[in-house]
Amino acid sequence: MADLYFAGVDVGSLSTDVSIIDHSGKVLSEIVIPTGVNGSEAAEEAFGSALNLADLTREGITAITATGYGRASVAFATGKTTEISCHGVGAHQLFPRTGTVIDIGGQDSKVIQIDSHGRMLDFTMNDKCAAGTGRFLEVMANRLELDLDELSSPLNIKGESAPISSTCTVFAESEVISLLAKNTPREEIVHGLQRSIVNRIWSMVTSIGVEGEVTLTGGVAHNKGLVALLEEKLGLTLNIPENPQTVGALGGAHIARRAYQSNLESPTN
Ligand SMILES: Nc1ncnc2c1ncn2[C@@H]1O[C@H](COP(=O)(O)OP(=O)(O)OP(=O)(O)O)[C@@H](O)[C@H]1O
Ligand SMILES: [Mg+2]
Repeated sequence: MADLYFAGVDVGSLSTDVSIIDHSGKVLSEIVIPTGVNGSEAAEEAFGSALNLADLTREGITAITATGYGRASVAFATGKTTEISCHGVGAHQLFPRTGTVIDIGGQDSKVIQIDSHGRMLDFTMNDKCAAGTGRFLEVMANRLELDLDELSSPLNIKGESAPISSTCTVFAESEVISLLAKNTPREEIVHGLQRSIVNRIWSMVTSIGVEGEVTLTGGVAHNKGLVALLEEKLGLTLNIPENPQTVGALGGAHIARRAYQSNLESPTN
């Protein structure tokens, strides 16, 4: 089955991610760009860049799965699948012993249990507010005048952490403002914010339980300080993909490949 290629396109609230694989599952290219205001344009641009990188043409792609909250805007997709399924399959492909996936993206966070084939067994998610998400960190980075890399610092892991008691982003931002007014060191505030997200994730994890290895996906997996705190809280080492933002797109590409190879249609929704 030579010369068959499959793609996954994940239009998220903050990033649009594309993964292109061949018939054996080998990754040929991966792209992450900001979604901006137009998901359909972002999907076109990211797909075009991923094709260029893989030295392929659009006609050369056999099947394309769209996922993410903006999946309906991907006109060129041949199938659509939920993010939950895509993150499960993507995490399974990268770390086959994964039993639990934690995805912390821009606008929601999810904990997903998967079986030994990467199929979703159960999940819980927070999509009601920005608390416990990348957006929460971005609002606070802005307020602290730090860029995302500075906010992700693994420094001060064992150090003091400023108390951030509000889970609501708006109230937590007010707390940050008063901590700054009291000259609280910014690294203590960063530590407190990371801890606040970890506590949010922890309550989701305890409601669903942990099975097998735990793989962390989504852009917040780039935040080294938060990863260290989450590992400490869970008492285990997390699997961190090299490119955590493209795991959903990778899962989408594998779903397209599996559907084609078993001659079934991708699930649509
Ligand atoms: N280099 C980085 N360092 C630290 N954090 C980062 C970095 N890159 C991205 N992030 C975090 O990742 C978040 C975006 O994650 P991601 O791209 O997975 O979101 P998304 O898939 O668009 O959102 P959703 O799935 O909720 O629709 C940002 O809000 C930011 O907090
Ligand atoms: Mg996402």
